[in-house]
Amino acid sequence: MQVRKIGVLGAGQMGHGIAQVAAQAGHEVVLRDVESRFVDKGLQGIQKNLARQVEKGKLSATDRDAALARVHGTTDLKALAECDLVVEAIVESLDVKKKVWTELDAIVKPSAVFASNTSSIPITLLAAQTKRAKQFIGMHFFNPVPVMKLVELIRGVETSPETVALVKATGEKLGKTVVEVNDYPGFVSNRVLMPMINEAIFCVYEGVATPQAVDEVMKLGMNHPMGPLELADFIGLDTCLAIMDVLYEGFKDPKYRPCPLLVKKVQAGHFGRKSGQGFYSYGEGKIGV
Ligand code: CAA
Ligand code: NAD
Repeated sequence: MQVRKIGVLGAGQMGHGIAQVAAQAGHEVVLRDVESRFVDKGLQGIQKNLARQVEKGKLSATDRDAALARVHGTTDLKALAECDLVVEAIVESLDVKKKVWTELDAIVKPSAVFASNTSSIPITLLAAQTKRAKQFIGMHFFNPVPVMKLVELIRGVETSPETVALVKATGEKLGKTVVEVNDYPGFVSNRVLMPMINEAIFCVYEGVATPQAVDEVMKLGMNHPMGPLELADFIGLDTCLAIMDVLYEGFKDPKYRPCPLLVKKVQAGHFGRKSGQGFYSYGEGKIGV
């Protein structure tokens, strides 16, 4: 099978980035979110990113227009029926993802392959919500999708070698380097990254240092492009907490307990950049504490 048409579920920060790179690679893309304002925001994000590439002389206006014409926004799940590959990038919640995969399984053509961009939820568990576990895989992109080179490919217990080969080839066509891993909590990326971020939050919680000081230490001392708290705000504190919860539950090991300060920020609706407030404040181009 060849992947021509790609469905992307969720037009948030990951979904719109995935839709963008898929359209730029020549795929027809259906981008679906639950409300039209979310779809519109995702489409605007793609327009903005492509406009920046044109301004920098990295993309022609003709190629921009062609890519934009390949992306079709919708709130209708049925619009995904004829997709060859569906990539799900909705909120990091097991219940919400389970429901959507069950619905999609009944709508999308039987030959289609399903991929979740989950940061940590077991692929095997999501695959089991469908009747096509062999055609189900983890396709984990990184934020910001147009910039980050990696796709972490996660094999569930039943994922077939054909599905691995097809999705690997698709990731490569999108310009990514694809690394295969097996299905354990947090896979490789977030098993390593998220405890570091959580520990940085503990440093703030215990008064070891301010957020700025923690970030400076890691940027200047470790050459990280962003400090861990800046990165947590960038990823989304709701997503960071959801990942820590999956690690904690998945390993039943207290070393993965989420920091109470992270829990409190999420309870307050301080999700980071996307809500305007996290460890830093984000107003009108200004970043401060
Ligand atoms: N969307 C699209 N492109 C973006 C972007 C965005 N949100 N932000 C920056 N860019 C592009 C810029 O246009 C620029 O492109 P060109 O090189 O073509 O000109 C390039 O990225 C560099 O941007 P800037 O010079 O403005 O900024 P920078 O040098 O500070 O880089 C960054 C920005 C790439 C985001 C960098 O800070 C970085 O690499 N940060 C760390 C990101 C990271 O670790 N991501 C992984 C998060 S974990 C994850 O994704 C997995 C999970 O499950 C949670
Ligand atoms: P986000 O909050 O920016 O966007 C999520 C979008 O999903 C929202 O627009 C929401 O309206 C939509 N949505 C919710 N339920 C839906 C449904 N039933 N159908 C369609 N859309 C629905 O979140 P995000 O940061 O883009 O994360 C999305 C997924 O990608 C999560 O599983 C997350 O763990 C994963 N991920 C996130 C990052 C990151 O750095 N933020 C990196 C890699 C993977």
